[in-house]
Amino acid sequence: KSVLVLNGPNLGRLGTREPAVYGSTTHADLAALCVRTGEELGLAVEVRQTDHEGELLGWLHEAADTATPVVLNAAAWTHTSVAVRDACAQLTAPLVEVHISNVHRREEFRHHSYISAVADGVIVGLGVTGYALALRWIAGGQ
Ligand code: DQA
Repeated sequence: KSVLVLNGPNLGRLGTREPAVYGSTTHADLAALCVRTGEELGLAVEVRQTDHEGELLGWLHEAADTATPVVLNAAAWTHTSVAVRDACAQLTAPLVEVHISNVHRREEFRHHSYISAVADGVIVGLGVTGYALALRWIAGGQ
């Protein structure tokens, strides 16, 4: 089974971006962790990152058309984008929302997610391990 791991804006800068908040793992490290975890679980995992909202919408439409499970860290769009939420609402396979940091321990504007109400589950604050846990849940078959 294939799974898409989709990362939104600024996540390509992991490792150099606010390391006190997001840790020292780079996006390449994160992608390798996801692919390796997928291999252990028998999942073909593809990891993508974009700073362009329309590109993320296109990937979500692709996942909707192919009934592919998605692990999504929409980053800042989590808190701003009805369009990303509407694209997520079209998914038929499982959707897990992931945030590296504990958004609830941070600024008020990070406490609301447009995605959570249309996700099957949400993992926040567990660092990049959250991605591996999301893949494990998807592999387990809900
Ligand atoms: C984030 C949390 C968001 O609030 C922030 O805008 C991000 C990353 C996280 O993974 O902790 O860019 O989604």
